Amino acid sequence: MKLAGDQLERFHRDGFLILPGLFSRDEVRALCARLPALYAEDTPANVRERQGDEVRTAMGLHLRDPLFAKLVRHPRLVEPALQILGQDLYIQQVKVNVKAAFTGEVWQWHYDFATHHGEDGVPEPLALNLHVFLDPVTEINGPLYFIPGSHQHGAAPATLDTATTSYPLWVVERDTVRALAHETGLVAATGPAGTALIFGDLMVHASPGNLSPYDRRIFSLILNPVANAQTRFERPDHKHHRDPAPVRPLADDCLLAPAPAGAA
Ligand code: SIN
Ligand code: MN
Repeated sequence: MKLAGDQLERFHRDGFLILPGLFSRDEVRALCARLPALYAEDTPANVRERQGDEVRTAMGLHLRDPLFAKLVRHPRLVEPALQILGQDLYIQQVKVNVKAAFTGEVWQWHYDFATHHGEDGVPEPLALNLHVFLDPVTEINGPLYFIPGSHQHGAAPATLDTATTSYPLWVVERDTVRALAHETGLVAATGPAGTALIFGDLMVHASPGNLSPYDRRIFSLILNPVANAQTRFERPDHKHHRDPAPVRPLADDCLLAPAPAGAA
């Protein structure tokens, strides 16, 4: 699947793209059916919220479940990423950010490159974050907030926050957010289940806690150029996968196609 010219233009101008209806109800249903068993696994790749026992983010899913192994190679995600970056990409990170009803906690203001660079020594802010909504995401259940155009201001000062949530994150100062938002305002990325988002490594974003009674599960795949791979290896594999193999797209129906005869 290729992005149209006007979509590419918007991506480069705003720094993000919202693609409603990219995945079907049946595809989303099949993915969601895998989640309870994955959440139940006792693994460091299931990061729990700071308060309580809910899974905050379930990571490394393509290595833990065959359907997610297909999703990370899905042409509706991989082909636009290849189109934007024009070079071989590896699978850097794969997760579902759960943000459970009532208890899902905040993601502070940040841009991903601050963590990719600060923790993993990724040289350049080239990685793309590709999201798929597994629930309807509305203004009330903790959507992502984007600052349109914030990617054009370069890498803002960032500091490592290990206190606010259970997930260490390099975050952006409030004054920076205020100044950037003053120019363009904020956009809440909402849409029905199956909506996809694409945004770059310098996009300043955040999401509030989920006080609503509705879950807000979002799948996230980060693809990074093989030529821009991590240079430090302190974080575990599920936070930054070490396999630099270039990702190759599968067939468009890969999520729902029946398993070949004889497959277990
Ligand atoms: C979120 O799931 O709300 C945050 C996702 C992100 O920071 O990419
Ligand atoms: Mn992020």
